[in-house]
Amino acid sequence: MTSTTTNIFGATSTTEEVLSGTDLRGKRILGLTTPFGFHSTATEVAAGVDLTGKRVIVTGGAAGIGIETVRTLALAGAEITLAVRRPDAARPVAEKLRQATGNAALEVRPLDLSDLRSVQSFVDDWTGPLHILVNNAGIMAVPELEKTPQGFELQFGTNYLGHFALTLGLHRALAAAHGARVVSVSSIAHLFSPVIFDDLGFDFVPYTPFGAYGQSKSAAMLLSVGITRKWAEDGILSNSLNPGAIATGLQKHTGGLKTPVERRKTPEQGAATSVLLAASPLLEGISGRYFEDCNEAELLTKRPADLTGGYAAYALDTENADRLWDVSQQLVRGIGE
Ligand SMILES: NC(=O)c1ccc[n+]([C@@H]2O[C@H](COP(=O)([O-])OP(=O)(O)OC[C@H]3O[C@@H](n4cnc5c(N)ncnc54)[C@H](OP(=O)(O)O)[C@@H]3O)[C@@H](O)[C@H]2O)c1
Repeated sequence: MTSTTTNIFGATSTTEEVLSGTDLRGKRILGLTTPFGFHSTATEVAAGVDLTGKRVIVTGGAAGIGIETVRTLALAGAEITLAVRRPDAARPVAEKLRQATGNAALEVRPLDLSDLRSVQSFVDDWTGPLHILVNNAGIMAVPELEKTPQGFELQFGTNYLGHFALTLGLHRALAAAHGARVVSVSSIAHLFSPVIFDDLGFDFVPYTPFGAYGQSKSAAMLLSVGITRKWAEDGILSNSLNPGAIATGLQKHTGGLKTPVERRKTPEQGAATSVLLAASPLLEGISGRYFEDCNEAELLTKRPADLTGGYAAYALDTENADRLWDVSQQLVRGIGE
């Protein structure tokens, strides 16, 4: 049976149209391009977009790329919750953003993605519809194997599983928005590892900081594919992205950003693809895909040595997405039920 999904701008597409874009085994339609590119800023991407009356959550919204994502969506008139693990540090950032944007509807709420109890409490406190969820927060290259309070490897637990639990817990709120968007901030580093289903916690496979980061970012991409497959009929669309190389607190374990200067972006440029996926009418009806530099990325058959771009099939594979969804539901049992 054909059903129709309406996005938050009022445009409609059939569920079949949405789902056909996710099938890597034959039905994939050609890569989506936009007038934007590497140098585009979040402000340029959001020009003309009106988010008045739209409710948004940005995880990690008080640092790095998150700040620029919040700033841009706030200028477009959205009501925004900055979901952060250090509320005291985030409050002055939110106040500056209120003053800079003239948008008073910015609030800070505590959320520690590495602890499922904190995710549960955030979800329990949320009421009403949610139009845009930007799963942005993350940690990178934790030097030694560390585990979350519930026993998951820290990067998988924070970057992926916490966001999975959050998204699942907010399902009803997203469905109630009638055309919600979920954005998964992934990374080119997903090319370092697929999801290792047989050993998610590095209990057998030797732990490496970027192997674990790569796994978590492949999982983040699969989450968008999973949302597309499970929730398109609720009108919920989701895409993932690589923001590019931006000097932020993310590189605290790696001695700073090592990317050559000409390939780096400013935070404003780094937030552009997030804002495109969160709020641009150019993405109407598009779901389950991966973007970089504001355009759909190209499928690779091998990881390029210079990590210039592209994605690995394993990170958008529908069987992997279904499997990860099922496994994750088991791991976060209780959240949102
Ligand atoms: N910067 C890049 O070059 C780059 C490249 C590819 C992908 N990305 C991705 O872009 C996203 C944003 O990164 P960024 O560069 O803006 O880094 P950032 O400045 O370090 O910001 C990351 C945010 O995530 C938050 N966070 C970390 N652990 C958390 C937890 N357990 N619970 C809740 N929040 C948590 C951080 O909070 P605290 O301030 O409390 O630490 C911070 O607000 C990440 O997903 C990252 O993987 C970035």
